[in-house]
Amino acid sequence: MEAIFETLISSYIDNKIGICNQFISEKLGTHLKTNLLALHEKKLFVKAGVGNVEKLVFDKFIRSDSIYWLDRSHNDIYENEYLDLMDDFISYLNLTCYMGITGCEFHYTLYEAGSLYKKHIDQFKENESRKFSMISYLNSDWKAEDGGELIIYNLNMEQEVTPTTGKTVFFKSNEMQHEVLLTNERRVSITGWLTS
Ligand code: OGA
Ligand code: NI
Repeated sequence: MEAIFETLISSYIDNKIGICNQFISEKLGTHLKTNLLALHEKKLFVKAGVGNVEKLVFDKFIRSDSIYWLDRSHNDIYENEYLDLMDDFISYLNLTCYMGITGCEFHYTLYEAGSLYKKHIDQFKENESRKFSMISYLNSDWKAEDGGELIIYNLNMEQEVTPTTGKTVFFKSNEMQHEVLLTNERRVSITGWLTS
C-alpha cells in the first residue's frame, strides 16, 4: 500500500497534481462500479449542485453530474474497503507530510453522456474545511473519443487526465482550478475531499 501512497504523494510534491494509475485494484474498482450502477438504477442518486448546502444552485450548464454519498452506516463491504483505504492514506499523509487532515467525505459520481462540469475550485468561500480533492475513476475501456477528461489548470500548464479505472488524482482544493470536459459516454467515479 505504501508504494501507491508514495506514487500519489511524490507526483503531488513534484507537480502539484498527484496521480496514481493503479490506486485501487481492478477487483475493488469493478465492485464499486457495480454498486454505483445498482444504486443509480434504484434512483438513489441526486443531482449535484454548485455552492454549499445553504446556497446550492443547480445549473446543468455549469455542472450536470449526480451523486450518492458513501457512508459506513450502509455496511457495504466495498464502500468500506474504499473508505478504509482512504483512512490509511490520510494516516500516511499526516505521518509523512504533517498535513493535519482530520476527516474526509466521498461520493459516487455519475455523468451521463452529454454532461460536464465547468472550470471551478473545490473549496467553498464560506467554509475552508476541504483541503485536498481526490477522485478515483471507475471507467474501463475509456477511449479518446469518449471525452470526459479532467483538465487541471496548473500555472500556465493544463494537465489532462483520462478517467480510466483505478486511476486516482489528488490536488489542493483551494488553489487548483479544474473542469470536466463534455463526456460522450456515461462516466463514473468516486469523488471526495480530505478535510480539517
Ligand atoms: C468535482 C470535480 C472532477 C472529475 O466533483 O468537483 O471536479 O474528474 N470532479 O470528476
Ligand atoms: Ni471539482
